Amino acid sequence: VNVTFIEPDGTRRTISAAIGASLMQAARNEGVAGIEAECGGACSCATCHIHIAEDWAGRLPERSALELDMLDFANRFDPEASRLACQITVTADLDGLLVDVPGQ
Ligand code: FES
Repeated sequence: VNVTFIEPDGTRRTISAAIGASLMQAARNEGVAGIEAECGGACSCATCHIHIAEDWAGRLPERSALELDMLDFANRFDPEASRLACQITVTADLDGLLVDVPGQ
């Protein structure tokens, strides 16, 4: 499925993400800037922080308590839009998803 990232410098990058991968892994595979993912997807670093575009935020599965705890450590936390990319699994429903990468 196609997912478009807006990198921290404003560059728009559309990547092809494999169904079943985490959004973090898909972005890392394509070298999307601003997603460091220091913990490797264990939901313990918050360096995969992203903002989900407004019209998409409600279409994703809910955040877990652990994800919400980690988001407390994210810069530019947004109560509606903030997610950890490693906690989102790519599904067919996400085709066309728009994601803003706030950077660290
Ligand atoms: Fe560390 Fe997502 S990669 S919290």
